[in-house]
Amino acid sequence: MSLKDRVVRRQDLGAPLEQDESSDAILRFRAQLLREADLDALARLDATQLRARLERIAGNLLNREGPVISAEQRATLIRQIVDEMIGLGVLEPLLADESVTEIMVNGFDDIWVERGGRLAREENLKFASEAQLYQTIDRIVGAVNRRVDESSPMVDARLPSGERVNVIIPPLSLGGPCLTIRRFPTPYTIEQLIGLGSLDRPLATLLASLVRAKLNVIVSGGTGTGKTTFLNALSSFIPGDERIITVEDAAELQLQQPHVITLESRPPNVEGRGQITIRDLVRNSLRMRPDRIIVGEVRGGETLDMLQAMNTGHEGSLATVHANSPEDAVLRLETLASMTELSISFEALRDQINSAIDVFVQLTRAADGTRRVASVALVTSSHREQFQLATVSEFVADRFTEGGRSTGHYVHAGLPPHIRQRLHQRGLPVPAEFDRDLDADRFERVESAS
Ligand SMILES: Nc1ncnc2c1ncn2[C@@H]1O[C@H](COP(=O)(O)OP(=O)(O)O)[C@@H](O)[C@H]1O
Ligand SMILES: [Mg+2]
Repeated sequence: MSLKDRVVRRQDLGAPLEQDESSDAILRFRAQLLREADLDALARLDATQLRARLERIAGNLLNREGPVISAEQRATLIRQIVDEMIGLGVLEPLLADESVTEIMVNGFDDIWVERGGRLAREENLKFASEAQLYQTIDRIVGAVNRRVDESSPMVDARLPSGERVNVIIPPLSLGGPCLTIRRFPTPYTIEQLIGLGSLDRPLATLLASLVRAKLNVIVSGGTGTGKTTFLNALSSFIPGDERIITVEDAAELQLQQPHVITLESRPPNVEGRGQITIRDLVRNSLRMRPDRIIVGEVRGGETLDMLQAMNTGHEGSLATVHANSPEDAVLRLETLASMTELSISFEALRDQINSAIDVFVQLTRAADGTRRVASVALVTSSHREQFQLATVSEFVADRFTEGGRSTGHYVHAGLPPHIRQRLHQRGLPVPAEFDRDLDADRFERVESAS
């Protein structure tokens, strides 16, 4: 993202400024600077040149129409305007560089970046002093109403443009304040995932129809198997005229629809108060007239609320869960849902899952790092029946592979009749590979955790 975009976004978000008498002037001149400066040209300058150039433009502006002030006040005002414009100071050029995926500041004079998965030290880049690094840190965490000091020396924040930031300062960090900025890669589209061999085209078409038909989908997998990535790709099948509410611990999803509300949970503050959990947000989202609720990852009590929402008319919801197979995902949901209401029996919870969830998409990561859909299982049982899953897609790995690469192919099966009917009734495409009724003897029972 260019400097221009970020500067403009900062302004849109109304990043807080000092509420002193000069803040009006700073805002006004910054806005004018934005109008007059050629921001694309500025983005190509290095940090020192950029500051010099902006200071000159700001100086001209002040001469032309600034208030009558002392030279000292004038210098301060220029610095404030430029600081505000430059945002993260010496880090700005790194943020403007699309190839940088991670920025690591280990004390004021030791800056590292990751490009294309490789770490390298930025030899020519450093903050002028530790004080200047602290200023930048304060600006980042201040914008999200947090603070960093000795009593809260670790803080997570995010830049207005979405990058995640972690700050840890002395006494916890011995070598000075550390700042880690993680940039989100552009998420893969379904087409790209097909290209990477993460699923095949018939399966992608089927999943698109399942999402459009408003079936409830759980993406399950271990850490780093690509759950969030896949959830994001699946979400692209949600029609643009629906109101989507996403609930996450750290907002990672990047939905493209026009009507999306992004909610993010909040950890407790220094005094241990003010925590807003995923569960709070899921409950609140139900009062926001959602067409779809997307929960980044269910990890606890919110599972029960999500299941209840799915069972009370909020169809077409999507979520991820940490599990190693669809069967394991069922047990995991059961365990998570029981974390809130210990009085509910496992049977009752199982029944909630039974009627709430329609689709499990299981992801795995092969030894060579390939991430793909390992299987797709549909829930074939309904309310008050013994829980049953039917595997409709499965990746079969080749026994012998060349050069240690993970290869194989998908085996697809027919669909459970009620789901096949539902897709056809809605006029949604059902690829030939899936367009027959699955034999009932292929349904697999899942025993309860209890
Ligand atoms: N299908 C895929 N093929 C290749 N890389 C992927 C794929 N899905 C995700 N990744 C990459 O793997 C990493 C972890 O993905 P993420 O979706 O965050 O996993 P999870 O949510 O399961 O922890 C990211 O760097 C992402 O870009
Ligand atoms: Mg994730």
